[in-house]
Amino acid sequence: GKVRAPTHIISTICDDRGEEATYAGVKMSTLIESDKGVGDVISLLWFKRSLPRYCTKFIEMCIMLCADHGPCVSGAHNTIVTARAGKDLVSSLVSGLLTIGPRFGGAIDDAARYFKDACDKGLTPYDYVEAMKKKGIRVPGIGHRIKSADNRDKRVDLLHKYGRTFFPSIKYLEYALQVEKYTLTKANNLVLNVDGCIGSLFLDLLVSSAMFTQQEIDEIVEIGYLNGLFVLARTIGLIGHTFDQKRLKQPLYRHPWEDVLYTK
Ligand code: ACO
Ligand code: LMR
Repeated sequence: GKVRAPTHIISTICDDRGEEATYAGVKMSTLIESDKGVGDVISLLWFKRSLPRYCTKFIEMCIMLCADHGPCVSGAHNTIVTARAGKDLVSSLVSGLLTIGPRFGGAIDDAARYFKDACDKGLTPYDYVEAMKKKGIRVPGIGHRIKSADNRDKRVDLLHKYGRTFFPSIKYLEYALQVEKYTLTKANNLVLNVDGCIGSLFLDLLVSSAMFTQQEIDEIVEIGYLNGLFVLARTIGLIGHTFDQKRLKQPLYRHPWEDVLYTK
């Protein structure tokens, strides 16, 4: 019989051996001919299945709404400084991407994990937030530097409206909004932020779309797929900031002395 040489790599998402590559078994030409978009490509390459249009549109909305948030945020700032130091596109991009983490853009997975756990356990927002405080952990998905109850984040409102209109259930987002109601009694900027909104709504998508088994949902949450949405989205803006600085022929950045407190 045939002897199969052991392989060093296992891959399950893309097969490039035929005439054209397939994404989770779907030919590239099929995607183009059936007018699919980047949300469909993400569904196939990340989740290994075609998702209904209301899900792929939601994914595309996340990408569009998180593509950029101005030059002052951590990621754009790093990218701008790096581009101005004369570095190339990839260096400028990754220098910005490296700031994505628990405080900035990378709180989506933890928001999903903690909101899911608290909601599934039936914790009241008060019990959840106070338990986090006791543990010394900031509630992921809550809080913003410039957004507040009086200056709401339009992205959160747009995603909320979409979920309310098209998702079979938005139970996790509703829980997150109850948490926000409580945290807003503590401080005006403790709003549900875009990370928390995407984290909770993506849980709703996973659970209510009937496209995933419980085991698959647990795996997605445990591995942490969802920060990928912010990383992918913000890559668009960071590339834009790199081009912007190069186009403007900006010189080497040096931070002004006046803005540093030199002290012993
Ligand atoms: N949970 C509980 N308390 C909080 C939270 C939170 N998520 N955020 C702020 N606070 C409270 C704390 O009491 C904090 O005091 P401490 O420093 O003693 O802990 C106080 O508010 C003031 O905090 P600041 O650090 O001044 O708030 P800042 O405006 O700098 O923080 C930030 C903004 C980093 C987003 C913060 O709210 C946070 O860590 N949130 C959780 C992580 C998160 O969701 N990040 C994603 C933000 S959206 C995005 O990046 C696209
Ligand atoms: C972002 O999307 O970069 C922000 O929400 C962070 C910020 O401070 O504006």
